[in-house]
Amino acid sequence: MARKTPYLPADRPEITIFVRVISKETIEVIRDTARVEEVIGDYVLLKRRGVNLLGLCPFHNEKTPSFTVSPAKGIYKCFGCGASGDSIKFVMEHEHFTYPEALKYVAKKYNIQIEETEATPEYLEEQSTREALFAVNQFAENHFIQNLWEHEMGKAVGLSYFHERGFDDATIKKFKLGFAIEEWDFFLKSATEAGYKTEYLKTLGLVTSGERTVDMYRGRVIFPIHNLSGRVVGFGARILKTNEKSPKYINSPESEIYNKSKIVYGIFYAKTAIVKNNKCYLVEGYTDVISLHQAGVENVVASSGTSLTTGQIELIKRYTPNITILYDGDAAGIKASFRGIDMILENGMNVKVVLFPDGEDPDSYAKNHSQEELEQFIKENENDFIKFKAGILMKDASNDPILKAGAIKDIVNSIALVPDGILRTLYVQQCSELMQVPENTLNNELNKIRREITRNKMRKDGWQEQELIPMPEHEMHEKQLDVQEIVFTTEPHEKEVLRLLLNYADRTIQFEQLSDEGAVEMIDTTVGYYMVQDIMSDEISFNHPLHQLIFDEVAELINQHKYEGLTQYFIHHSDPEISKYVIDLVTLKYETSENWLNKHGIVVVTEESQMMKTVFNVLYNFKAAKLEQIITDLRKRLQNTEDDSTELLTDINDKQMIKKSLSNQLSVVIWK
Ligand code: UTP
Ligand code: MN
Repeated sequence: MARKTPYLPADRPEITIFVRVISKETIEVIRDTARVEEVIGDYVLLKRRGVNLLGLCPFHNEKTPSFTVSPAKGIYKCFGCGASGDSIKFVMEHEHFTYPEALKYVAKKYNIQIEETEATPEYLEEQSTREALFAVNQFAENHFIQNLWEHEMGKAVGLSYFHERGFDDATIKKFKLGFAIEEWDFFLKSATEAGYKTEYLKTLGLVTSGERTVDMYRGRVIFPIHNLSGRVVGFGARILKTNEKSPKYINSPESEIYNKSKIVYGIFYAKTAIVKNNKCYLVEGYTDVISLHQAGVENVVASSGTSLTTGQIELIKRYTPNITILYDGDAAGIKASFRGIDMILENGMNVKVVLFPDGEDPDSYAKNHSQEELEQFIKENENDFIKFKAGILMKDASNDPILKAGAIKDIVNSIALVPDGILRTLYVQQCSELMQVPENTLNNELNKIRREITRNKMRKDGWQEQELIPMPEHEMHEKQLDVQEIVFTTEPHEKEVLRLLLNYADRTIQFEQLSDEGAVEMIDTTVGYYMVQDIMSDEISFNHPLHQLIFDEVAELINQHKYEGLTQYFIHHSDPEISKYVIDLVTLKYETSENWLNKHGIVVVTEESQMMKTVFNVLYNFKAAKLEQIITDLRKRLQNTEDDSTELLTDINDKQMIKKSLSNQLSVVIWK
């Protein structure tokens, strides 16, 4: 299907665009139809081993087969080289295909018709509008560049301004800086003559959309904003006169091609350097980015025009987990950096801060110092966020214990945002040393905050605090589970918790709860939400650090309602250790369930059909194992103590009671 491009000037030849898309529905059909063992079977000789298939890995040289295909999970995994994925990924890797190419290949194998040209009219309309907007912006960028270098006013006012600021010609050209002539319709006329629709000029904020249509930027220097692939999505236009009332910068409005919260200024020019240095510098303004570039520091972007957003941080995260904030040392700069720190931590990234001397910003500093001095300064003044916050907060607190307590809480608040449990522990240690406060004290505070964060999230999402109804005493006895023989090591139970979460997080389960009026209500929730809430509110930690790591990330995703593709997300996790572990975990049941029942007392029910029982059962086993471990430890201490043991005995008794009540609750669920 062909369409005329609506934005092309009338005097140019018509260009026809062919749009080929594979519809979402087709992709689903392909994914559903493709059998991983059949697709891979075309390349690799596979032999059945239990529920899996085994062969020689095509991705590395091996003599004994360690390449495993799981038809049930639709995935492959090599235990030798770690390669893993689904059928489409296999074809992509093996044939070096792009995603659409791999889809087409698999579709062909199964005779699935790909209706490539059947893009909807809406899709085409949307696509051609986007293309039109890009074309208009490209025209505008060229226009402003031409003004700067060729127009008398552009040269006299714009170019000399950039030169005065210390930008050399190469830099000005690299960043495609320009100038808007100070007339009412200099740009409008030129764009109209070239055949561009006024409607698009308005949409992009290049002309005003009031009663009289005039140029939006007049007598301003222009900073084009480029997306990841270097296309112009918008502009920042800086005023040159200082005494005017109009704003210093006029920025393009959001449009179909410009989502401000998902773009950072300079990313196109910085991305290679960010990867190379494994670090991204974050500055405040356009001019900071440009000056640092000219000074040889190229891994730098600015959150221009908006305060830092999560979308911007996620964009940077594609290239590095490390951000260093470079802000002015004034009060506003510090405040902005505090906000930035917390957002970056929340996104699971590492953050450092460099404050420039009061009155200086990266731009001015880069201008007045050599590249060596600049790099030296950044190196010497780069503080991790704890030291940075402590330094600033303690300066005011000095010896006042109340202020010091406030400062510590402030820092712990930031630590609590870090999704990675191990990292949190390390930060707590560091904070404890730095602030001279016991780790325990900090951990208590930290746990309180983290629980509060989880609760707030849940409340916000409309979940209620949940409580199980204990069963009447007399009904309980005959129905109790026999848990005497269970071997209490926690790790297998931790694995079961994770396996359940990864496989069934989005399944709906129902359970009963007492309302405020004492009535029994049925509550709908999901396996994921229930388990995460239950484990977090009971403050149970995982013994195995990797388990804790995975759980924290699962919890984070579930709290954000990101159920879709949860398993796949972990199967393709950026951390290969986690990805490998998870693939083992989701295929685990088939290999070990029989054994486990005997060894660890894990009751395997057909979990799909009895989801709620399984959930309670697994949680119970996990908690019981944890409790048993605690009780054993207490007993040991009891044996070794000379002191009064009343407290220990009470503690043991308490834990026994909790365990008993746990098993009572379980019996209600299982045997009802
Ligand atoms: P600055 O005032 O520091 O601007 O604002 P700058 O880019 O460093 O420019 P110079 O050094 O004064 O020439 C930092 C950023 O805040 C946004 C711009 O993105 C700017 O780059 N800003 C500032 C606006 O969007 N509008 C304004 O009116 C001011
Ligand atoms: Mn500035």
